[in-house]
Amino acid sequence: MNRILIAITALLSIQSIPALADQARQDAIVVRAIERMQGYDFSSNDKVKAAIARHIDRMAGTPEYLSLLQRFRPDGMKQKIESLLFAGNNSAAVEAAKMMGEMPDGPNRLRALLRSDDTAAAARVAEVLGFLGNGRSSRILSDYASDERIGYDVRRAAVVGLTKSQGGQKTLLEIAKSKKLVGDTRLLAGALLARSADAGIKQQAAKILPQPASKNQKPLPPIDRLATLKGSADAGMKLFRSAATCSNCHVVGDFGKEVGPNLSEIGSKLSREAMLTSILDPSAGISHNYENYSVLTESGQVIVGIKVSETADEVVIRTAEAIDRKIPSGDIEQLKKSEKSIMPENLHHSFDQQGLINIVEYMTTLQKKG
Ligand code: HEC
Repeated sequence: MNRILIAITALLSIQSIPALADQARQDAIVVRAIERMQGYDFSSNDKVKAAIARHIDRMAGTPEYLSLLQRFRPDGMKQKIESLLFAGNNSAAVEAAKMMGEMPDGPNRLRALLRSDDTAAAARVAEVLGFLGNGRSSRILSDYASDERIGYDVRRAAVVGLTKSQGGQKTLLEIAKSKKLVGDTRLLAGALLARSADAGIKQQAAKILPQPASKNQKPLPPIDRLATLKGSADAGMKLFRSAATCSNCHVVGDFGKEVGPNLSEIGSKLSREAMLTSILDPSAGISHNYENYSVLTESGQVIVGIKVSETADEVVIRTAEAIDRKIPSGDIEQLKKSEKSIMPENLHHSFDQQGLINIVEYMTTLQKKG
């Protein structure tokens, strides 16, 4: 051991600055020598440490890189491992996520990345955890798939991630069964689990997460595939304003009635997939301002709609026909919030698949101005 050490020290004490290629060769020799010297504490020797650090940086992008990081734990190791999550090489990213999961503060760091404002980065972390597919990563992903405070994109990525491994698929089924899965990803989860290689999972998913069918009970393609199809925005607009009845409840520009949200800028807000979910599974993501109520009056009449206002004297309910009904408090026998959206469930039965795609195409053109 001593002889190796002396040789290394001699090598590193050459005063002249070596040419880059020579230095690379020297550093590699130092690292190889130290790898053979068990128990040698290289951290006490700055020159050796620097040689190791240079060598590791040069090896970035190679299969050895991670094991070098693990073996020598250079300064900034955590950052280096973390950056592998985003470097584009899936194999290295999965290894890096695995290592992070095993490091003392790693799981917390992974969770923090999933909550980051940079949703593209967060979605990438969810994807990598999905590829990893062990118990720990599935647990993290299932927390995010069932958290409605997380943005749709990241939650979606968590659901997709869970479907990448059999363990993850089982976890996803569990949270769907216990109704923890946030509504707006139900259709997607159903679509992805329907393609599971495991017949049992497929069967259970079909029971818990039914797929939408178009009129005549013809099944529609799964939602992620539907979202890739293109249509005619012009035809979509015509349908939106007529047979599809969307304009009965949605204002676009200065056309339509305002029962539901104004959709003039919906193309800047929702992806195609999220738009499809709004139409195919309207109750999946009811927003607070549009909760549907039903009022039973003293005379036995039932009035259903969005609650526009409520005072001590009266409640105002806007019906699906965009009529505001004022109901004096004294006349109200019962005021009940509904789990269902006022937006009808089977709207897409009044047009065919291409009609659906055309409406979505139209909505993508409704962009924020300026
Ligand atoms: C009876 C009223 C009604 C009809 C008809 C209706 N919607 Fe809605 N829609 C709503 C309400 C209310 C909401 C608010 C959230 C909820 O309850 O789901 C909504 C939400 C949406 C959203 C999500 C908006 C957002 O900001 O997230 C989209 C997109 C949408 N509707 C599209 C359509 C399309 C397309 C049609 C026609 C095929 C349609 N709606 C027909 C009432 C309606």
